[in-house]
Amino acid sequence: MSDPQPFLLARGVCHTYPDGVAPLSNISLELPAGSFTALVGPSGVGKSTLLRILGGLLVPTEGEVLLKGTPPHLTPEPVGIVFQHDNLMPWRTAAENVRLPLELQGIRDGERIAALLQLVGLVGFENSYPAQLSGGMAQRVALARALVHRPELLLLDEPFGALDALTRERMREELLRVWNALPVTVFMVTHSIREAVLLADRVLVMTGYPGQITATVDVPLPRPRDLLMEGLPEFVACVRTVRDAIAAHSAEIVPER
Ligand SMILES: Nc1ncnc2c1ncn2[C@@H]1O[C@H](COP(=O)(O)OP(=O)(O)O)[C@@H](O)[C@H]1O
Ligand SMILES: [Mg+2]
Repeated sequence: MSDPQPFLLARGVCHTYPDGVAPLSNISLELPAGSFTALVGPSGVGKSTLLRILGGLLVPTEGEVLLKGTPPHLTPEPVGIVFQHDNLMPWRTAAENVRLPLELQGIRDGERIAALLQLVGLVGFENSYPAQLSGGMAQRVALARALVHRPELLLLDEPFGALDALTRERMREELLRVWNALPVTVFMVTHSIREAVLLADRVLVMTGYPGQITATVDVPLPRPRDLLMEGLPEFVACVRTVRDAIAAHSAEIVPER
């Protein structure tokens, strides 16, 4: 809490939905520019609510969020978001899905689309339709689409949650590669403690109802990271720290993948 103007700042955030459900309690956090932060916690604590607030899709009823000094729902800064389900348009090819956000703004930039599809490893599948793609490939398209406006902030809400374990591992590596290649700040919600530790600089633990950030765990692993690091004692110790932090504040068992 020392940076005078952090890239993203949330202070005292609470939210009450119109039906009276109020899942968040006094959330404060800072995301340094270019950092990778993971948020873990049991279902229903308000992780997705917080993510939507950070992205400006939802305006909190209390507290403030500032993205480079401006509330995210008012900022001209593009924000990229990927959800668990790809939400691709089935009648558009991979390239056409990635292009859609630009089309809506009247921007034509074929080179940008091609570069993004290459970045996410989809060369050769540009003209495939979503039904012809595997789940992992469809999520790559969704990732490319989220990056097409060159956002400085990328929000990921359990993006690999619907994928099988092997595909999920591969996507973790892909995401590390993409993050290394781009100057983007990532905030990722995940149910997997191992995924959080492998990818992030810092893991936030959210527990309770209403949800609070009850622990912040710095990940001591060097960069660049790869899957083999899961065997390192530092990795194992960090996973245990996060798991203990969740258990200390929560009766619910968090599924581990
Ligand atoms: N649009 C909404 N209207 C009312 N309640 C909601 C809405 N979205 C989420 N909630 C409720 O807020 C709580 C937190 O949900 P959510 O943020 O999705 O948690 P998580 O992502 O941690 O599982 C849950 O009780 C959920 O039912
Ligand atoms: Mg959620």
